[in-house]
Amino acid sequence: MVFGIILAGGVGSRMNHAAMPKQFLPLGDKPILMHTVARFLDCAQLDEVYIGVHKDWMDHTRELLNTHFPDACIHTVCGGGDRNDTLFAVIEEIETRYGTKDEHILVTHDAVRPFVTARILEDNVAAAKQYGAVNTVIPAVDTILVSGDGNVIDSVPERRTMYQAQTPQSFQLKLLTSLYRSLSDKQKAGLTDTASVCVACGHPVHLVRGEQTNLKITTPEDYRIAEAIVAMN
Ligand code: CTP
Repeated sequence: MVFGIILAGGVGSRMNHAAMPKQFLPLGDKPILMHTVARFLDCAQLDEVYIGVHKDWMDHTRELLNTHFPDACIHTVCGGGDRNDTLFAVIEEIETRYGTKDEHILVTHDAVRPFVTARILEDNVAAAKQYGAVNTVIPAVDTILVSGDGNVIDSVPERRTMYQAQTPQSFQLKLLTSLYRSLSDKQKAGLTDTASVCVACGHPVHLVRGEQTNLKITTPEDYRIAEAIVAMN
């Protein structure tokens, strides 16, 4: 089976919006999270959709799903303290229902990337089946500088080899769980995304082409750009 997993367990501190986490802010005709859910429901290759949700926002999320997708079967799971904790709470739920079979594929995605395309989702599924671990990326258009202290440049890597990571990140379930469970708590604590689990274990991660429009809404400026994109369409 192929499982779509939307990660919506964060609080959106960098958005500086007191009333609610950013994934619940309105964007055109529905909240950001509901746009992302719609893209997942439209992808015929996803057999089931799961959402990892912050514990204080479970009821609100269920209400939104009932309003916007009353006929869809979407599973909500209480999230954890960081992004990977939320993902593994969902994975535990999937393992409880379906076991840890070799053929299970996970397509994991930030709730706050509402413009993910059908092509990106389909390429993720195909590549995860072939390679086991996949990260969506776009080539870096700006030159990337490395600076340890934030004051002085340490090095300038060749731009041709630089990419910006997006999501989805997709994995064979059994591969990902065995790699993650081999890490110590200290190693796990330093990882801000899930492809890093594979990299930390020395397992190759295949690259899938993303899109500039598959933007992540992190700050108020990103939110205004997302509103402009929705208004144009
Ligand atoms: N996320 C999650 N569980 C957490 C933390 C983050 O599911 N404990 C999700 C967020 O809801 C978001 C995605 O991971 O969809 C990417 O994280 P980010 O943009 O950093 O979201 P927040 O952690 O909410 O934002 P901030 O870092 O500004 O607080």
